[in-house]
Amino acid sequence: MLALVFDRAGEPREVLRLADVPQPQPGPHEVLIAVRARVIQPADGMFVAGRYRVKPSFPQVAGFDAAGVVESVGAEVKHMRVGQRVGFRYPGAWADFAVAPAARVYPVPDDLSAQLDDGAVCQFGLNPLTAWGLLDMARLPQGARVLVTAGRSAVAGLLGHLALQHGVVAERLVREGDGYRLLDASGVQTLAQAGDVAQTLAAVAPYDAVLDAVGGPGVPALIAATVPGARLLSYGVLDDRPFEMHAATMVYRNLSWQGFGIDGWLNQCEAATLARAQRECWELLSRHPELVPVAARYPLRDFDAALAAASTGKGGKVLLM
Ligand SMILES: NC(=O)c1ccc[n+]([C@@H]2O[C@H](COP(=O)([O-])OP(=O)(O)OC[C@H]3O[C@@H](n4cnc5c(N)ncnc54)[C@H](OP(=O)(O)O)[C@@H]3O)[C@@H](O)[C@H]2O)c1
Repeated sequence: MLALVFDRAGEPREVLRLADVPQPQPGPHEVLIAVRARVIQPADGMFVAGRYRVKPSFPQVAGFDAAGVVESVGAEVKHMRVGQRVGFRYPGAWADFAVAPAARVYPVPDDLSAQLDDGAVCQFGLNPLTAWGLLDMARLPQGARVLVTAGRSAVAGLLGHLALQHGVVAERLVREGDGYRLLDASGVQTLAQAGDVAQTLAAVAPYDAVLDAVGGPGVPALIAATVPGARLLSYGVLDDRPFEMHAATMVYRNLSWQGFGIDGWLNQCEAATLARAQRECWELLSRHPELVPVAARYPLRDFDAALAAASTGKGGKVLLM
């Protein structure tokens, strides 16, 4: 089968090569998937560069997130059938066939299958479940207000809709030119605009939680814009520069700061919670496919052009078909 493989860590466009490799075989708790669409996510570049929490094992097939059809299942997998459409997230997705543990394979519900194309299904295992998991971890009561950074990202768009369903208002901070803009829960109306994060949030009522994909020197200003007892959930490192903070900032206002990683959240998630998350996310994507937009589709062999297109980060995700 064909796969995008790398033999050393490095920049994806320098180290990835299309190779003919043996088809993987599923173990007892695994599923073999004939892959139909793969999405290029920010984590993919970090994985190939050796900077992601999951480390490559060479020769490594790249990619995590994809959609496909179940080709065969291991002896212990009882709840999936051959021919079923699935989304999955597991290393080795950028290939004709991939193997993933059944727990990381998400069957497309039969009743929603017609409304969900492979462009949406291949994105299911990461951003929709991340948005749902962040809200679950934040444990916000109805009526709470939450600030979401990188507010034009796919995760932020999904968070906005899921938060609304859970009775939570999610306002979005976006960068704009040399400064920042605060958008309301719809992502349309401007609530404030200024040259830096602190000034932008200066006159805004404090938030019950912040869901931060950025990090870096703006974090203290995010913390300053919260109520006593608030939570800062960090889930991305778009700006991974260090910053200085006093312990007193957290102590005197009983704040908490927690990291969110999708694998860690899934590992501790109870089966009933994950089933609820999957159903809500599939329903959301079937009603709002615009929340997982696709900018372009390329054949697997045109991966170099696909990676170049993905690096612009505009207009949605780039797919490898
Ligand atoms: N922890 C986890 O398990 C997990 C799971 C999923 C995603 N993530 C992370 O969540 C983040 C968003 O993912 P996504 O797929 O939703 O992203 P996306 O749709 O590709 O959008 C990325 C957004 O980040 C913004 N951005 C980039 N650098 C920035 C910076 N230095 N300061 C402020 N904004 C910046 C961009 O803003 P402009 O529009 O201004 O260019 C863009 O809107 C990524 O960092 C991703 O790695 C983490």
